[in-house]
Amino acid sequence: MSKISVPSIDRRKLLVGSGAFAAAAWLPRSGLGAATSAREFTLVAAPARVSLVGAPHPDTDVWCYDGRTPGPEIRVRQGERIHVLVENRLPEETTVHWHGIRLPNAMDGVPHLTQRPIAPGETFAYEFTCPDAGTFWYHPHQRSFVQVGRGLYGPLIVEEREPVPVDRDIIWVLADWRLLNDASISGDFGNMHDVSHNGRVGNTVTINGRIPETFSVQAGERIRLRLINGANARIFGLEFTGHRPQIIALDGQPVEPHAPPDGRVVLGPAMRIDLLLDMTAQPGLRFRVIDKFYRGLEYRLLDLVYADSATLRDLSQAKPVRLPDNPMPEPSIKNAQRHQVVLGGGMMGSMRMAMMDGKHVDIRTLMHNGLVWAINGVAAKGHVHEPLLTLERNHSYVLELVNDTMWPHPMHLHGHSFRVISRDGKPTKHREWQDTVLLSRQERAEIAFVADNPGDWMFHCHILEHQAGGMMGVIRVT
Ligand code: C2O
Ligand code: CU
Repeated sequence: MSKISVPSIDRRKLLVGSGAFAAAAWLPRSGLGAATSAREFTLVAAPARVSLVGAPHPDTDVWCYDGRTPGPEIRVRQGERIHVLVENRLPEETTVHWHGIRLPNAMDGVPHLTQRPIAPGETFAYEFTCPDAGTFWYHPHQRSFVQVGRGLYGPLIVEEREPVPVDRDIIWVLADWRLLNDASISGDFGNMHDVSHNGRVGNTVTINGRIPETFSVQAGERIRLRLINGANARIFGLEFTGHRPQIIALDGQPVEPHAPPDGRVVLGPAMRIDLLLDMTAQPGLRFRVIDKFYRGLEYRLLDLVYADSATLRDLSQAKPVRLPDNPMPEPSIKNAQRHQVVLGGGMMGSMRMAMMDGKHVDIRTLMHNGLVWAINGVAAKGHVHEPLLTLERNHSYVLELVNDTMWPHPMHLHGHSFRVISRDGKPTKHREWQDTVLLSRQERAEIAFVADNPGDWMFHCHILEHQAGGMMGVIRVT
């Protein structure tokens, strides 16, 4: 992936095209300082035809940014301000959400809730500062089960202030497609089976928009591998045979370096994991990377292929890299207010009734409206709702997430990162910061955070069919 080009843009023109929401967000917020110099980028969302599967298969019609999927890498320094002009050349409305970035609410890209959707032919200017170093990504929030599924997403990398000592910094955007025999995208988006079961798990996995056979490495090199799960619904469980990867960041946030539990790197949709991958084997060897998440559906992702050249260095005594912490507000668990958030519904679930549009309705009426999931008994029809919870700014909260369904759910909160402090009643070892927590079926997890970012924030399942099927809500910080 090459870096995005940086055209110079006449700002006055943007104000004309981007409407009142953007104009309001243009006013520099007090305390942010250096709001004047933003790095400028453009993204054009449009249909394109790309080679996903490779010859001899035909090309695939996708929707993507700047003519490629994944879209261009946006790479900035921690604390830098960016200005992204998004132009919509799709046949429908869109927005861009900057997943995991703690930014002002007006820049969050949620249609109707934080901005008017960008109509075909229109532009919208996003501008915000990136407070945290790490691996993030961007994607639409308008009909995302279709727009992401057709290829609209890209990596957003925020570099640490000091360079991290690795030989190579590599991004793998993992994606999952449901393709027909002619390599075209199956049009059955949002069908009730996907919505009520696992979501749209496809049949073709790509890395950076290709199906690579191999990844070339050199003995003795140290790689920072940034994994981004851009799939609608597929959960990955990667094993790097013959190697001992260390997890050094989760969802962009540094974590005490540790080996993945059971040797498996598990990423739910929208999650990111930064691995420190030491190439400790001998020149000329070859190792498989296998995805074992779904039992009976294991497959080889690719092979790590060692060059024949001499070993670069002896890594046997090398210390893991501990990334510097981001400026996260530390929640006070003792003084935190607690709330329970129950996820319900889905196939084999017990949900018979839920609230829809403020009314109690039965499961038939829900299904008639395409809804099969609920949070605290409320099935969400769109993005704008009575808040699920209203939180007081700068107070600490512990949310107990209860997955009362037979399916896993990667639950994402906008505008904040949270510590995962327990799972099924047991304290977590690393109290990791995440913005998306993967709950296994019937699992409970407690998350803790300071509600320091005012606004209406989405809280939803990132299996995009589950989100569309009602598993979403608004958390208001006043
Ligand atoms: Cu990655 Cu609400 O989104
Ligand atoms: Cu879900």
